[in-house]
Amino acid sequence: MKFFVDTADVPAIAELNDLGMVDGVTTNPSLIKKSGRDILEVTKEICDLVAGPVSAEVIATEADAMIAEGRKLADIAENIAVKLPLTWDGLKACKVLSDEGKMVNVTLCFSANQALLAAKAGATFISPFIGRLDDINLDGMELIEDIRTIYDNYAFETEILAASIRSVNHVLDSARIGADVITAPPEVIKKLASHPLTDKGLATFLEDAKAAGIKIV
Ligand code: E4P
Repeated sequence: MKFFVDTADVPAIAELNDLGMVDGVTTNPSLIKKSGRDILEVTKEICDLVAGPVSAEVIATEADAMIAEGRKLADIAENIAVKLPLTWDGLKACKVLSDEGKMVNVTLCFSANQALLAAKAGATFISPFIGRLDDINLDGMELIEDIRTIYDNYAFETEILAASIRSVNHVLDSARIGADVITAPPEVIKKLASHPLTDKGLATFLEDAKAAGIKIV
């Protein structure tokens, strides 16, 4: 399973990247706003840092304008994935940009039928938003399962990028189902390392090491 980091915070990406935890990055206009940076400048910086796909989202809503923005974003670096919303115009833009050989991440997916359309339009990634479905009392993981089944039934190559991940359990469930990629905030990725028994066991080992006068270097 690939790990993408869902942020435009360059130092946070760099910290995880140094550990080999970053297979790609996803951003969106809200994350760019949070970074306080210029979209083209911060995206270029992220692309220089990370080898894998870096999703940068268009803000136009009409297909021709989305295509123009997508081409401009794709010019930033070879590892840009143009992020397009799952609207009819977004699907039109997806087809055109995919046919040009650009990576496309179709975002804001909330149904399996939407995911089916994105795959047919040639999307490289489909981003179903788990957390936002959970927020309205729907089952985000059920959507991931449905898309996995449908894509496998027809051997679609579009990768399932489980997005809007809010907890470590979202990561675990996505891995169990077989999502190709998860994108999560840096804090969630770091939390994957935590376990109370690890902390407790380490505390005991350190106490015993001290009592025994163990020194290694
Ligand atoms: C994905 O690409 C989106 O940027 C992101 O996962 C949205 O997450 P949120 O619902 O927590 O804003």
